Amino acid sequence: MNRNDIRIGLFGFGVVGQGLHTVLERTPGLRARIGRIGVKDRTKARNLPAELFTFDRDEVLDDPTLNVIVELIDDADEAYRIVTGALRRGKAVVTANKKMLAEHLQELIELQRETNTPLLYEAAACASLPVIRNLEEYYDTDLLEAVEGIINGSTNYILTAMHRDALTFAAALRKAQELGFAESNPALDVEGLDARNKLVLLLAHAFGLVARPEDILAVGITGISDLASSYAREKGLVLKLVAEARRLPNGGVAAAVLPTLVRPEHELARVQDEYNGLITQSNFADRQFFLGKGAGAVPTASAVLSDLSALTYGYRYEYKKLHQESTLALTPTDAEADVLVTFGAEHAPDRADFSAIHEYFHSQELGYYLTGTIGLDQLAQAAWLRLPGISIVRLPTPLRAVTTAPASETGPVVRAAWATDEAVSPL
Ligand SMILES: NC(=O)c1ccc[n+]([C@@H]2O[C@H](COP(=O)([O-])OP(=O)(O)OC[C@H]3O[C@@H](n4cnc5c(N)ncnc54)[C@H](OP(=O)(O)O)[C@@H]3O)[C@@H](O)[C@H]2O)c1
Repeated sequence: MNRNDIRIGLFGFGVVGQGLHTVLERTPGLRARIGRIGVKDRTKARNLPAELFTFDRDEVLDDPTLNVIVELIDDADEAYRIVTGALRRGKAVVTANKKMLAEHLQELIELQRETNTPLLYEAAACASLPVIRNLEEYYDTDLLEAVEGIINGSTNYILTAMHRDALTFAAALRKAQELGFAESNPALDVEGLDARNKLVLLLAHAFGLVARPEDILAVGITGISDLASSYAREKGLVLKLVAEARRLPNGGVAAAVLPTLVRPEHELARVQDEYNGLITQSNFADRQFFLGKGAGAVPTASAVLSDLSALTYGYRYEYKKLHQESTLALTPTDAEADVLVTFGAEHAPDRADFSAIHEYFHSQELGYYLTGTIGLDQLAQAAWLRLPGISIVRLPTPLRAVTTAPASETGPVVRAAWATDEAVSPL
């Protein structure tokens, strides 16, 4: 594709689609024009000439004057049909649809190879942050130990607004939606599923590991209790939704999306509003930190623009790490995390699931909590995690390999009274 002759068949003219239109108008270095736009709603007023728009997918895909397809719709199933249809026609594709990518990644990797046609998706993980190409090109899998970050802009916006501006969860979500940061289905954001979809993409490019989204534990921010917030405040910790993937010493990889208490001096503690932050941990370079806007029209479109530019240089993902000999696998049975579990009088976590319980506490006003260590696999399978009134937050320690240290002979500490409340053992 020639840098002076990019003719785009665009699908979607919402937040990001319109952002791309704006960005292209302000980018003289790239001669790209939008030739046709596929949308869905026939009744919507558009701010571009009506003849640009169509409601027929094939009219765009089959148009011989268009040499690249940019897919920016919010319907993952239709996005899958568009992207596979374009690749089968030999048309290069740029997409921002992480849900569609995560659900079909293996197949889409194979389809790129079969059709010898590139599919780029920098905007799908961390929006404006150039993480996919960096993970793919710069970091060698032998060196990279972990990626850890805030990779969902709207939940970070919500948590910031609740903590800093004292907004309720509902008011903060509404504001994120008004500003175009939230997915049209907010459950994807607040249940941690969008972050999990992005973690699938990071795993592929960081470690050459293609996982299915459902194989990764994801806990969102909807159930966070007042007691967990009080605990965070009392300890001076900051609550964030953190996605993490970490190599384990036995050759496996631990991955999860969990609400996490972060120490104030940690890089992620200063990631505010719709910003995303990603830390890479590697053997020789040590820690590196990417920080930038993780949602919004123009920042997200900037990553789409960068992909369009990359196509003009013949760039494609080679998935190098996937083809290296020692393939890695997710091994949740080998990993554990330290957690704070809050609960009420009705339902309690099963103490047998924990390899250690460090502390119990009961507040007359706010309920019970315990802190303990639990395997990722036990946590993923714990039926109690889905019971009403139980919520979980990770304590500020990384995911790690299961330790075989003997249980403490003294047993858990029953914490001394907090404020005016009694310390009791609920289990
Ligand atoms: N917003 C962000 O900050 C952000 C950041 C990173 C990635 N993304 C991703 O970018 C994509 C677009 O997000 P958005 O925020 O721009 O969504 P949006 O504002 O809700 O816009 C969605 C667009 O998709 C079109 N559409 C929906 N279903 C369609 C179908 N079946 N056929 C054709 N067009 C269809 C809609 O058409 P009508 O105009 O006719 O309704 C609309 O133009 C999503 O995959 C999202 O996950 C968004």
